[in-house]
Amino acid sequence: MKLFLDTANVEHIREIQSWGILSGVTTNPTLVSREGRCMRDCLEEIVSIVDGPVSAEVLSLDTEGMIREARELASIDPKINVKIPVTPEGLAAVKALSSEGISTNMTLVFSLNQALMAAAAGATFVSPFVGRLDDVGSDGMALVRDIVSVYRNHGVGTQVIAASIRHPMHVVQAAMAGADIATIPYEVMVQMVRHPLTEAGIERFLRDYEKVRAMEAGK
Ligand code: E4P
Repeated sequence: MKLFLDTANVEHIREIQSWGILSGVTTNPTLVSREGRCMRDCLEEIVSIVDGPVSAEVLSLDTEGMIREARELASIDPKINVKIPVTPEGLAAVKALSSEGISTNMTLVFSLNQALMAAAAGATFVSPFVGRLDDVGSDGMALVRDIVSVYRNHGVGTQVIAASIRHPMHVVQAAMAGADIATIPYEVMVQMVRHPLTEAGIERFLRDYEKVRAMEAGK
């Protein structure tokens, strides 16, 4: 499973990119608004840092507006895929954009039927929102499992992004569910790499090797 960062913060993207494990980035209007910069500025900097796909979301609600915005966003860089909410207008936009060769990420997906329609429209990616489903008492990860299993049964090429990830266990569960990608907030990515036994192990190795250094210094 590929690991994407779910943020528009370029310092965070630079840091995780430097770890050598980052395959892409997803943004949304809320994440961009936190940075106090316009969408285009953020995206131009993000694509200069990241090697893989970068999602950017449209704000229009009508098909024509979505298509117009999508073309503008896609013209920024070939890495950009356009996030479009799963509505009738959004499906029509994805259909039109996929025939133009513009990559799309069907977002705000909360049901298997929505995911089936996203695939039928030709979406490159589909983003089920795990955490937001959990928040309303549904099983968000069950939706990821169902989408993966139905897409596999029917040979669907749309890639599944487990989105709205809230904690490291969501990432583990997304991988076990067979998601192609998990898009992960910075704080969760940092939690994922940490383990108290790793830290204690490093400390002990360094402490023990001090004896060798002392021995060598005494020769
Ligand atoms: C996905 O692409 C979205 O940007 C994101 O995962 C939404 O997460 P949230 O529910 O934490 O806002």
